[in-house]
Amino acid sequence: MTKIHSFYDLLLVVSLLTPRTLAKCPVTSVCAIAHTGPSIVSLCLNNNERVLKLTANPHIHTVTLYVTGKHSNTAVLYLTDATGIVQPENRLLADSFGRAGYLTVAPVLFNGTPAPAGRDPYNPSFNQTEFLARHNPTVIDPMIDATIRYIRNVPGINRIVASGYCFGGRHAVRVLAEGRGVSASFAAHPALLQDDEILGVTGPVTIAAAENDFAMSIDQRRHIEDLLLNSTQPYSLSLYSGTEHGFGVRGNVSIPKIKFAKEEAYFQAVRWFDTWGKGSKWK
Ligand SMILES: *[C@@H]1O[C@H](CO)[C@@H](O)[C@H](O)[C@H]1NC(C)=O
Ligand SMILES: *[C@@H]1O[C@H](CO)[C@@H](O)[C@H](O)[C@H]1NC(C)=O
Ligand SMILES: *[C@@H]1O[C@H](CO)[C@@H](O)[C@H](O)[C@H]1NC(C)=O
Repeated sequence: MTKIHSFYDLLLVVSLLTPRTLAKCPVTSVCAIAHTGPSIVSLCLNNNERVLKLTANPHIHTVTLYVTGKHSNTAVLYLTDATGIVQPENRLLADSFGRAGYLTVAPVLFNGTPAPAGRDPYNPSFNQTEFLARHNPTVIDPMIDATIRYIRNVPGINRIVASGYCFGGRHAVRVLAEGRGVSASFAAHPALLQDDEILGVTGPVTIAAAENDFAMSIDQRRHIEDLLLNSTQPYSLSLYSGTEHGFGVRGNVSIPKIKFAKEEAYFQAVRWFDTWGKGSKWK
């Protein structure tokens, strides 16, 4: 039994005995995350309401959306990696943002021809140069803008935040540019991120970086940190050990440190949106 020597010891004993101090709060609950199993919705290919017509884009005429989650004031614009929303892991992660309380909308970005889902980026059947040329920002930006317009018309929504992975990670930063209508962004292992895109952000941005990323060298990551240091916007950058490019969405969750990093990157995004994506005004 602890000897009580002073008034302060007494206070400590009293506080330890008070049940209130024993209450445990769920800081982060992994039950919001699904790594496997069926996604909540299949693609809404036959639902005309969710197939947007594009008039200004000479390359793409319609955008199909994957819509999940409940109605909320803030919506998550989910921007996939190159494997697209047909990849189950992308749909499951979009659903996980839904379980975090956000209406989540993912445009189908690659018009039926996403990159193959294999984990090998050097898959010989995949011509990355050709893929990136075909899906360059002049093609993708209007698709994302149409999705943003759709979300803005959903009753009750007054703010949009973006969560993007690899290919979509770059676009999650691009949509923070002036006038595009997004308030805060999360980008996991963004590929091809340009200096002017980082310098042009008009809202809070957070990045999840992989230790070993063929799409972002250590020097590039440090350069991104230098650019963020000069930013007047709130920012953070987390580096996850034992991870490779893609871990935030397609990491191998049977490896404990990768599963942890994938979950932690999800919490990084949700906390960012809970903190910086609230409010009642359109940008
Ligand atoms: C990949 O695509 C580029 C651009 O279309 C082309 O120049 C190149 O030859 C292709 N590479 C292979 C290995 O097919
Ligand atoms: C950050 O700002 C400083 C001071 O203006 C400048 O010297 C430096 O080059 C900037 N860093 C980057 C990465 O642009
Ligand atoms: C995931 O990791 C486990 C354990 O190391 C391994 O057996 C499995 O082949 C990996 N799966 C993929 C798709 O790489």
